[in-house]
Amino acid sequence: MALDDPGHARCPGPAARDIILADGWHVPDALVAESYAFLGDEDIGYDRYVSPAFFEREMTHLWPRTWQWVCREENLLEAGDWLTYDVGRHSVLIVRGDDMAIRAFPNACLHRGTQLKRSNESGAATELRCPFHGWSWTLEGGLKNVPCRWDFPHVTDEAYALPRVKVETWGGFVFVNMDPAAAPLADQLGPLAEHFRGRWDLANRRVSLHLQKELPTNWKAAQEAFLEAYHVYETHAQGLATAGDANANYDIFSDHVTRFVHTIGTPSPHYTQAQTQQEILDKMRVDGVLVPEGRTARSVAAEKLRAQIGAETGVDLADYSDSEMLDSIEYHLFPNMCLFPGVSLPMIYRFRPIGMDPGRTLFDLMFLKLVPEGTPMDYPPDPIPVAAEQSYADAPGMNPGLGAVYDQDTDNLAMQYRGFQASAKRGQTLGNYQEARIRRFHQTIDDYLGRP
Ligand code: FES
Ligand SMILES: [Fe+2]
Repeated sequence: MALDDPGHARCPGPAARDIILADGWHVPDALVAESYAFLGDEDIGYDRYVSPAFFEREMTHLWPRTWQWVCREENLLEAGDWLTYDVGRHSVLIVRGDDMAIRAFPNACLHRGTQLKRSNESGAATELRCPFHGWSWTLEGGLKNVPCRWDFPHVTDEAYALPRVKVETWGGFVFVNMDPAAAPLADQLGPLAEHFRGRWDLANRRVSLHLQKELPTNWKAAQEAFLEAYHVYETHAQGLATAGDANANYDIFSDHVTRFVHTIGTPSPHYTQAQTQQEILDKMRVDGVLVPEGRTARSVAAEKLRAQIGAETGVDLADYSDSEMLDSIEYHLFPNMCLFPGVSLPMIYRFRPIGMDPGRTLFDLMFLKLVPEGTPMDYPPDPIPVAAEQSYADAPGMNPGLGAVYDQDTDNLAMQYRGFQASAKRGQTLGNYQEARIRRFHQTIDDYLGRP
C-alpha cells in the first residue's frame, strides 16, 4: 500500500464479496454493489459524546429535522390505535384516524402543555383527551371539546387544531419528521429503498421478538458498536472459526446509507488453524449433518436453513442465495436505524437518547421474520425490557448464542464511555476502511448541525 493512497489497503485473502460471488448463487446485484471512497482520517472528538452542549445541538438541529422510525404499521392496526415516541426531550403522539390515515402530533396539550399520552406507551382511544383539564381532540387532531368553553372566547377551533408532525411509511415501518419543511422520506432512504425493493421488502415481515435495553453510553457510541466488524477479533473471539471479520466489505452508498457484509460459515482471516469443512459446520452448531465431498460448510448450512426456515414460515426460499440465508448484512439508515435483510439474521436496531443525559441510550432490538406475501397484519408482540445487568441470553424467545454476542457488544460500552471522559487524547482514531461508516455517520451529523 502506498502511504499516499489511504483507505485502499484491504485484508489479504478473499473478501466477503469474493466469497459470496464464489458461492455459485445468483445474488441480487445490490448485495455485491461496491461504493467506497476515503473520507479522511482525523480523530473524532470525545466531546461529541459527552458534552451536554453538543447533545443540545443534536436535540435542536438533528433530531427534530430527520426522519426516524417510530413503530411498525401493525402497531396501529385499527382506528384509534395510538403510541408515543420519545427521543431526548421530544415526544410525538402517533395515531390512526377514523379515516385510517396515520397522523402524528407533538405530544403536548394546547392548554397548558401536559403530554396528551404518557411517554413510550400505546393504547386505543376514541378521542385524544388531556388528562389534566380534559381538553379533547378528534383522532384527526381537530379541537373537539374545551370544558367551560365560555371562559376561552380567545380559543378558536382553527388555531387550536393539534399541530402536525410529518408521517410517512416504508417497508412496513412508520417514520416521523418533526420539521414541517422536511424533504420526503424517499430522499433520506435513497439507495436503501432501491436495494430493498422486491425480495427484501420488509413489509413482508413481522416482528417475532422485540427487546429493549438501556445502554450506559451516548447514542452514537452505542450505534457505532454495531457499524464495524473490526471488534469481532477481540470482543467475539468465539466466532473466529466460523465468521468473517477483517475481510468484511464496507460500503458508503449515500450520506444517509451505509452497509457492511460479513460472511458466516467461513473463518476469520485471523483464524489460522487448519480445519475441515465438516469441522466448520460442527462449530456452527449444525448438528448431525455431513458435508458431502466438494461442498462447503457454508452451502450445507444454508441449505439446511432454507428447508427449516422455509417450513417454519411458509415462504419459498429456493432462490435465496447462501449469503442471504446466512450472512450478517447490515444497512445503516442515518441517524439511528440498522436493517438486516438476511433471512436467518433478520434484525432491526434503533438507538436513541433517553431524556437529556448524553450518557443514556435506549436500544431497541427487533427480529423481523419473513411471512408469505399478503399475510394479514396482526399486532406485534410488546417490547420486552432487558434490565441493565440482565443477559440477553435470558430474555424469553432469544437465541442464547446470539444473546451472548449482544452481551459482549453492550458490555464494552460503559467502559468506553468512562474512557472518553478519562482520556488524555482528544478523540477516537478510526480505521480508514473498516470504520469508514462511523466517519460517514459523524460527517452527516455535522451536515445537520451546520444547517441554520
Ligand atoms: S393542560 Fe391539557 S387540558 Fe389543561
Ligand atoms: Fe459485535
